[in-house]
Amino acid sequence: NRPIQLAILGLGTVGTGVVELLQNNLDEMTRRTGREIKITHVGTRRNRTDIPTDIKQSADLLAIIQQDDVDIVVELMGGTTTAKEVILAAIEHGKHIVTANKALLAEHGNEIFAKADANGVKVAYEAAVAGGIPIIKILREGLAANKIDWLAGIINGTGNFIMTEMRDKKRDFADVLAEAQALGYAEADPTFDVEGIDAAHKLTLLASIAFGIPLQFDKVYCEGITKITKQDVRYANELGYRIKHLGFAKRRILDSGEEGIELRVHPTLIPKQVLLANVNGVKNAIMVDAEPVGQTLYYGSGAGAGATASAVMADVVDMVRALAETNDSTANLVPHLAFQPETLNN
Ligand code: HSE
Repeated sequence: NRPIQLAILGLGTVGTGVVELLQNNLDEMTRRTGREIKITHVGTRRNRTDIPTDIKQSADLLAIIQQDDVDIVVELMGGTTTAKEVILAAIEHGKHIVTANKALLAEHGNEIFAKADANGVKVAYEAAVAGGIPIIKILREGLAANKIDWLAGIINGTGNFIMTEMRDKKRDFADVLAEAQALGYAEADPTFDVEGIDAAHKLTLLASIAFGIPLQFDKVYCEGITKITKQDVRYANELGYRIKHLGFAKRRILDSGEEGIELRVHPTLIPKQVLLANVNGVKNAIMVDAEPVGQTLYYGSGAGAGATASAVMADVVDMVRALAETNDSTANLVPHLAFQPETLNN
């Protein structure tokens, strides 16, 4: 079987993380899928000397997505203009898409998914929401039999990192934001993080899956963290609360009697003893209330190269499994023997 071949478009924090992850954990992924995964092309504006020489580098993205040695296009450039053009063209050429681009999907996803359906290709986007937490798969697969009543979460790592550092270390907003940018957490335009736009994009995607509704970014009430002062943080603390920026989606009966979904992102006061109040730094957490499972909570790194690359490659591995169409999923599961620690044998 020939390898499944990837084109990675964009070599920023996440793209570089994906190349590294594939170098480090290729054996794990091959063992799980029975099929080798190989990057054949990267789309990058500047030639990169740290990329293995057997990977072709080019700035001509529309040429890359037409190549025969590309099965899956992994879009990690961000933005909604070039990324949209390239993804739509790739779909027309029959390529499957993996993307971390929440802005693009929240704003143009209805069009992109329709085109993918018409062309018989898949678009996967686990990395678009909550970094390393596999929340898309949880909503789509793990909770598939439930009726979801509401979900609430800290879904912007940069904002949570800023608020945590301001509270615990009394640092200034601008200083912490600069650090979040240096660490590769922030969006290219960090106003998306601090004005709640990034969280609104993610909430749009989550609500669409949780409630089976079209993507409706324009319906999200959106407020960020820029108006929160040090005094607000101090008073909240004295009253036994923490201020957290939350995304919230909930079923509601409208005055007309129709059922609708309320969508909002804004700072919220949460009692200190509640789990969500204790999610600090770049971590994200999402609580889902569903029937019959009840409340479940998901926690992990919401941004950064490793966490986001983990989600990108989870989608790739899923697609490789589907493409490999192998019935014998245990075929390659032999390299390590299981053993019991000696201390347990005595
Ligand atoms: N800027 C985003 C965040 C990146 O900080 O959460 C992950 O989506």
